[in-house]
Amino acid sequence: MATGALQGMNVVVIGGTSGIGLATALGASQLGANVWAAGRSAAHIEKAVAAGAGRIKVVSVDTHDEAALKALFAEVGVIDHLVSAATGGSRTLKPFLEQTEDQFKDAFGKLWGYAKVVRTGAPFMAKTGSITLVSGAPARKIKANSSALSCVGASVETLVRCLASEMAPIRVNVVSPGIIDTALFDWMGDARAERVAAMVKGQLVERVGRPEEVAGALLYLMQNGYATGTTVDVDGGQLLR
Ligand SMILES: NC(=O)c1ccc[n+]([C@@H]2O[C@H](COP(=O)([O-])OP(=O)(O)OC[C@H]3O[C@@H](n4cnc5c(N)ncnc54)[C@H](OP(=O)(O)O)[C@@H]3O)[C@@H](O)[C@H]2O)c1
Repeated sequence: MATGALQGMNVVVIGGTSGIGLATALGASQLGANVWAAGRSAAHIEKAVAAGAGRIKVVSVDTHDEAALKALFAEVGVIDHLVSAATGGSRTLKPFLEQTEDQFKDAFGKLWGYAKVVRTGAPFMAKTGSITLVSGAPARKIKANSSALSCVGASVETLVRCLASEMAPIRVNVVSPGIIDTALFDWMGDARAERVAAMVKGQLVERVGRPEEVAGALLYLMQNGYATGTTVDVDGGQLLR
């Protein structure tokens, strides 16, 4: 990708203070964009400010807070490329019959957050612009204990195809990561390396992915004016496992 490919463009990354979103924000900045990266927690915001070293604007916004989203988008003015990589909901990992209804519903916080980002951001989008959301391999790779993740991911991917059709000429796409080395797995503590290694065992590319590798797909979708309604998998071949 040529330096300057996003020169002067306004790029907003919701969920841009950690992991895949932060790598995307930094990558867009490297390509010349004016970048806003948003998240909730002070800890992630501080890390993103340090990583951005003044090159990206880091702001506190929750995907579920319409007023805060609107204020951010109004500050940006015209948005060329809008990304939501926010987790936005709980990651319920249990057999379906062992989940409470609330646990199953809470996982959909990601979808409701994305819906709010799109609904609130749409009036600010450049007609030549793009929206990219992030799903996840469980959307199409069914495994035990992952029904909530699978249903949410599949909903995100279906929403993207609907939006691409309804919002054209604005392009709408989705990136589906596999197992990526981000803060998402911090809760595993000391067992993290072992558990993550077990998760990628047998993949065609048998290692955990890097946030920058997923960011590459998000940056590609911003730049390719002929790509819309599509899903880009960056999952080490997990779907063929
Ligand atoms: N890592 C993987 O293996 C993997 C696999 C499949 C799919 N994904 C998906 O990839 C996306 C990015 O995840 P990641 O791995 O990069 O995780 P991450 O490092 O934890 O980053 C998630 C980002 O989203 C922000 N966020 C979470 N909830 C938010 C909300 N309600 N409003 C605004 N910001 C919010 C987080 O900041 P705060 O928490 O401070 O708000 C953080 O900036 C997620 O949608 C995740 O489901 C990841």
